[in-house]
Amino acid sequence: MITITIRSAARAAVAGVLLASPLVAVAVAAPAQADTPAYEDAARPVPQRVADLLGRMTLAEKVGQMTQAERASIDSDPSIIASDNLGSVLSGGGSVPTPNTPTAWADMVDRYQRAALASRLHIPILYGIDTVHGDGNMYGATVFPHNIGLGATRDPALVAAAEHVAASETRSTGPQWAFAPCICVARDDRWGRTYESFGETPALVEQMETAIDGLQGRPGQLKDNDRVLATAKHFAGDGLTTYGTGSNDQTTGNYPIDQGVDQVDRATFDRLALAPYVPAVQQHHVGSVMPSYSDVQFTGDTTRTNMHGNRDLITGWLKGKEGFDGFVISDYNGIDHIQPGAGTTFEQRVVLGVNAGIDMFMQPSNFADFEAALTDAVNTGQVSMARIDDAVSRILTKKFELGLFEHPYTDRTQLPEVGDAAHRAIARRAVQESQVLLRNRKHALPIRRNGGTIYVAGSNADNIGNQSGGWTLTWQGGSTNVIPGTTILQGIRQHAGHARVTYSATASAPVPHGATGVVVVGETPYSEGFGDVNGPQWAYDPGDHNVPRPVKDMQLSSADKSAVDRVCAAAAKCIVVVVSGRPLQIDPKQLKETDALVAAWLPGSEGEGVADDLFGTAHYTGTLPVTWPRTVAQEPINVGDPNYDPLYAYGFGLRT
Ligand code: GLC
Repeated sequence: MITITIRSAARAAVAGVLLASPLVAVAVAAPAQADTPAYEDAARPVPQRVADLLGRMTLAEKVGQMTQAERASIDSDPSIIASDNLGSVLSGGGSVPTPNTPTAWADMVDRYQRAALASRLHIPILYGIDTVHGDGNMYGATVFPHNIGLGATRDPALVAAAEHVAASETRSTGPQWAFAPCICVARDDRWGRTYESFGETPALVEQMETAIDGLQGRPGQLKDNDRVLATAKHFAGDGLTTYGTGSNDQTTGNYPIDQGVDQVDRATFDRLALAPYVPAVQQHHVGSVMPSYSDVQFTGDTTRTNMHGNRDLITGWLKGKEGFDGFVISDYNGIDHIQPGAGTTFEQRVVLGVNAGIDMFMQPSNFADFEAALTDAVNTGQVSMARIDDAVSRILTKKFELGLFEHPYTDRTQLPEVGDAAHRAIARRAVQESQVLLRNRKHALPIRRNGGTIYVAGSNADNIGNQSGGWTLTWQGGSTNVIPGTTILQGIRQHAGHARVTYSATASAPVPHGATGVVVVGETPYSEGFGDVNGPQWAYDPGDHNVPRPVKDMQLSSADKSAVDRVCAAAAKCIVVVVSGRPLQIDPKQLKETDALVAAWLPGSEGEGVADDLFGTAHYTGTLPVTWPRTVAQEPINVGDPNYDPLYAYGFGLRT
């Protein structure tokens, strides 16, 4: 059971208590039999076990450890895991077992693990997943506010507690590795991954890196059944790309800014892109790092280098200067972005990626091709055996630290706690603390429960898919994705007491005289480049790229604008709540009509937490993690810019 006390006592205590709470006794290793191979002797130091196992491995087994496949590629025949010596399997966004239940997840991962242990040396696999706001892939998981909302809390202890819950729900249902947190510093809100960032300053991102502690615990706690290996991503400068330089993604067409190019001087790159990785490595001991799809082209340079092929920064700076001792996992087919010149072959990219310092390769379906290419590269001397041994040693070290050789199968002790009331209470508190009150004319908030009518409208008042955003059940998330939890409207109804609650999404129903109006507006879900402003017009559909989708514009939809106009024209008090992954442009007309304006971000499954603040059972304490622009045309706009003139400044937030 993971709980936190109320805020006043928690700030200092929670981080300590939670991180020290050995929810399971550490198994005391029994003395090994005389003929037990050293690597199987849990009493031996990890470096000894790694060295012993490495010495027993063939090249094929070593190359296999550096290879990660997507579950869909092996699910029909898990024996491929052993036959191809695979070191890891992942679930991409939306790649889920059927049925999608906690138990089915644990059964699936254990089925793969059983296949892995049939290999000659019985090396367990690592199973990775995007637990980026809780284990969003899994139906029934507690789904937390996305990072931009956690950044608004300015509460490191709460973030640690939230990620501890996320780690527990992940580990107890199979996966031992989370591709989180993104420690990106989002500088242009037109970027579709802005919501995955804790904020626009390195200082705020670094403050929230207690997320790593929540996921991993302290050194030595990775074995616990409520911790997972974390991943600092995407190294480096994923949030620093220039609008208009986005990648030409071969399946969907241009992303305007995602996966683009950092066009800055080295000092700016160090300050905004590299800085967060120093505490992530040295203070929080993050176990893995994922390179960015983006390129860097420092001012004055004629060449641009993709981060997946950036040896200076991966091997030179991250591993060399900063002493990172975990392993580097590529992004999803990430080496495809290494483009030193026209005609670069896949085989050349493999060599460039390995020699840049990537240790494990996320090759969802072409893993066999990868293994063949890397084997050939070693045999032809393009990749040294020393590099291979370094990569494999890093990977094996984490597998030993996770206790996978002693406990390869899922410890389901805490599986019953997935999505339970205690977990949801922590998520609800995160929602409460993430709310940012931007305007409160006539003390419209908190809403007073004095009877009367509360008239609720807006596209996001009663849509748990929209309030959860991307990486929820599916990669892109979806307005029709339903998960256990509460919508904002349900929260309002719970708080309303004797007041009558009327709901009309488009505000077509008449607004009773004297009513209090609450209009919940905002965005529909998206992930990655699909969320870029003016991004691809086609939905991501593996079979058909011609499924039209609403293009993001950082504006209120016309339906939401009309709803605001109607409600605010008739209600005694008019409150607008924005549910979005980033600031949205609020036109002066709408702004003037509102009495109160709240940034709710993407609260996740516990929408009632938004209502807690609206009705005053929790107080507004959140502050803006990113600058709120007057218009989209102001982007990029960040605190410290010359002539800084936003609608609401970074760090702004009213209290109640
Ligand atoms: C995606 C994302 C990365 C994620 C990975 C696995 O493309 O860039 O953040 O962890 O693939 O889903």
